[in-house]
Amino acid sequence: MMKQLSVEHLLGIKYLKENDLELIFETAAHFKEVINRPIKKVPSLRDITIANLFFENSTRTKLSFELAEKRLSADVINFSAGQSSVKKGETLIDTVNNILSMKVDIVVMRHPNVGAGVFLSQHVDAKIVNAGDGTHEHPTQALLDSFSMREALNSNLKGKKVVIVGDILHSRVALSNIFALQLQGAKVKVCGPTTLIPKYITSLGVEVETNLKKALEWCDVANVLRVQHERMAIKYFPSTREYTQLFGINKEILDNLGKDIVIMHPGPINRGVELTSDVADSKQSIILNQVENGVAVRMAVIYLLAQQIKR
Ligand code: NCD
Repeated sequence: MMKQLSVEHLLGIKYLKENDLELIFETAAHFKEVINRPIKKVPSLRDITIANLFFENSTRTKLSFELAEKRLSADVINFSAGQSSVKKGETLIDTVNNILSMKVDIVVMRHPNVGAGVFLSQHVDAKIVNAGDGTHEHPTQALLDSFSMREALNSNLKGKKVVIVGDILHSRVALSNIFALQLQGAKVKVCGPTTLIPKYITSLGVEVETNLKKALEWCDVANVLRVQHERMAIKYFPSTREYTQLFGINKEILDNLGKDIVIMHPGPINRGVELTSDVADSKQSIILNQVENGVAVRMAVIYLLAQQIKR
């Protein structure tokens, strides 16, 4: 029998097992080869319809999902909350049930509320893929991050050291990465202003390092996050200038490490704040590889979930 995921939806990395990650990476490696062919498409999901529901802004994630679905030959419909009847007072379940009556099999959803994906999976009859729920999880980002790390290090992540730098408190990328890295046996530290590091983080088995230089000296990979100003109602640090002085990565810091580390960022980058341009565009940076791998990993997730649909 074909290998299957242990879950019915992709709601968070927290619900996955190590074997699920391996299956997703194996499948993604195959699709990466497909999207580098002259004809970048396979007919696998010709009978599947997917709705991308984005209740929060997105560039990369939305385009990446849409492209992944089209490369699998699925039929795709797109919905952005800004231009919809949500503004007229419709509930989430009503919005989604209306879309599902158009015979949709899979829903990819980004939503500002924590748990929106879980909630939906309990109330509607479709496969749900969480494309980011508030400050909680962003599972496909963590999957593409791990896939990209394995590619850059040419090895699995057992015993590898990864530091996540920046605004951990408001980041769904951080939490999903922590779960994914730990499932693979990697060691994880976080680094940032103490006000942006949630207190519960150590209970997840993650160490805190507030000195950027020490964190970078320790790690094999630095995954650098954006300061999520849009989620801050109060000030968490005195000024952006001070943040950059203490937690921004520039070429001089990297050159003085005496070793090459891998630099990652989920995007969008605030150039000159968390990374200088010469770091973002350096040989050590795999930021654009992450974007390329995002399509292959999302193809894998959607393909594997679609295999469970009876047709
Ligand atoms: C991230 C997100 O939306 O959580 N971006 C992304 O999906 N590529 C990170 C961010 O917005 O900083």
